[in-house]
Amino acid sequence: VNCRPGTFLDLISMQNCNLTNLPENYSMRFYLYHYLVNPEMIQIAELPHSHKVIGYVMSRMQERNNIQKEPPYGGITSVSILRTYRKMGIAHRLMRCAHRAMGEIYGAEYVSLHVRETNTAAKHLYLKTMGYHLHEPHIEYYADGETAYELHCSTKREL
Ligand code: ACO
Repeated sequence: VNCRPGTFLDLISMQNCNLTNLPENYSMRFYLYHYLVNPEMIQIAELPHSHKVIGYVMSRMQERNNIQKEPPYGGITSVSILRTYRKMGIAHRLMRCAHRAMGEIYGAEYVSLHVRETNTAAKHLYLKTMGYHLHEPHIEYYADGETAYELHCSTKREL
């Protein structure tokens, strides 16, 4: 499996991956906007011969309310790996690339994300494998009423 930065040609494959795997879906306009604003912030996993896209991570730099007081920080918008290719370390590889891009290109001090309380696989990846910590729970964050855990991780951390 190859991991590489995504381009706008990957956006339809990413949308397919997202629709198959997650209840949080986005319009093509959102993907295009995300790509234009954060061109280095999409990481793709693809099969070497067919170039089939089997996973992605979308990240972004977050808007800050107070530039003097808040350090630059990044956010993970969405991560998804097609079912057949899970538990092979691919999400971890993509997340490491995303952290590096945010830390080195944009000087992000830490990365923030939201994950569903019941998402065992994603919580293992973030909390156990990558060393994210719980920043704050958000009750009824998702449209169906589920709680989100807001997790943070320093970009200085060895991943
Ligand atoms: N249950 C328990 N642990 C798991 C599971 C699982 N179902 N799946 C993976 N893990 C563990 C792995 O064993 C590994 O642990 P280790 O480092 O202790 O050995 C660790 O998580 C990382 O595994 P990867 O192989 O890198 O993860 P994978 O490529 O399978 O992708 C992901 C994980 C992205 C959560 C995948 O299951 C998926 O696409 N799920 C559906 C979409 C989703 O939930 N995305 C995250 C939403 S939150 C957000 O987007 C910010």
